[in-house]
Amino acid sequence: MIIEPKTRGFICITSHPDGCAKSVSNQIEYIKSKDKINGAKKVLVIGASTGFGLASRITSAFGSNAATIGVFFEKPPSEGRTASSGWYNTAAFEKEANKEGLYAKSINGDAFSHAIKDETIALIKEDLGQIDMLVYSLASPVRTHPDTGIRYKSTLKPIGKKYTNKTVDFHTGEIKEISIEPCTEEDIANTIAVMGGEDWQMWVDALKNENLLSSNFKTVAYSYIGPKLTEPVYRKGTIGKAKDHLEQTAFTITDSLKDVNGKAYVSVNKALVTQSSSAIPVIPLYISLLYKVMKANGVQEGCIEQIHRLYSERLFIDQTPTDTEGRIRVDDWEMRDDIQEQVSKLWEQATTETLSEIGDLEGYRTEFFNLFGFNFDEINYKADTNEIVEIPSIKS
Ligand code: NAI
Repeated sequence: MIIEPKTRGFICITSHPDGCAKSVSNQIEYIKSKDKINGAKKVLVIGASTGFGLASRITSAFGSNAATIGVFFEKPPSEGRTASSGWYNTAAFEKEANKEGLYAKSINGDAFSHAIKDETIALIKEDLGQIDMLVYSLASPVRTHPDTGIRYKSTLKPIGKKYTNKTVDFHTGEIKEISIEPCTEEDIANTIAVMGGEDWQMWVDALKNENLLSSNFKTVAYSYIGPKLTEPVYRKGTIGKAKDHLEQTAFTITDSLKDVNGKAYVSVNKALVTQSSSAIPVIPLYISLLYKVMKANGVQEGCIEQIHRLYSERLFIDQTPTDTEGRIRVDDWEMRDDIQEQVSKLWEQATTETLSEIGDLEGYRTEFFNLFGFNFDEINYKADTNEIVEIPSIKS
């Protein structure tokens, strides 16, 4: 079929297998161009098919020759309907890993469920024996609790009072003011249930109970802080409460890992265009201004550069540097005073008329479409393309 982008709001409902493969191979090439990292050798990644999780899987495999198991929730292709991009990304990743003799297997299903945890445990027992790192990079709007069956929905709302600010429709470049009503107590609890640390802890407990964690085991989950500008809707909003919970959970997990001398980390990463961040009001405008400033200052990074820096300069060195709250920071360049000052100035000036000049809307759009395998110069989007692509380790 001829595969073209079809967008619905902040999501693209088609994806291109060759473009996704290109995006994966670009990331692999980046990692291969760097020195090898003395990192973990048997790695489980939850949320391994897109964004930071995919970059983590690629960095482990191609930076440290690690065997990787990836868990994710993606839509397989069917006749006349493309898969979701994470499916094609994983198909491409496994093929590249296999070519280099690297073990790579994947599990597609709800990581919050007991069934997928059991399936993963069985696979580790059969193939790897133990793992030495768990990357937890899940981003989901909903979670069905595996014990109670209750389905929680996360929200992106301010706490206490209404929040009004500018936002952009990145397809049209139109800047509008939006107001978001404050959340209820229930919204906070629900968002923590979905994006807080409980499921991360459940994964670690389940693996530990089966004696699947090697000594010196490490686990890392990803968080975000961001500037004052986005605080009401992010760090001091419902999602921020979930991130607070996730960050606290790192300490509880570390306590539970004493007998394997293990450690749980949270890494605070920079704002990037991913399927998840596109859904958050105000953030796309912030990102398009941030990209402009970070590019002008020569400090822009994508997911793969971020994770490479996390592994090579934070996680896998003798003494992992952390902030006063115990978190690893690879958002340090985003949060630099000079960068934030420039972004704040641009924020004041940003209107529909000025944005294409003062912001990197083009960069935002390109990265957005790249997430779905579109807008790569090397791909012929007019060519008839087979949408049915299998992931080698997943039997259909
Ligand atoms: P993403 O949307 O690119 O990736 C989410 C991953 O989770 C995908 O692999 C998806 O298949 C998987 N997933 C979703 N629901 C699932 C389920 N029920 N079962 C199994 N897998 C499921 O997201 P992104 O942006 O890479 O986010 C990953 C983490 O990084 C999140 O915790 C996010 O808050 C954090 N982060 C993101 C930043 C950003 O700007 N994008 C900045 C800093 C942190």
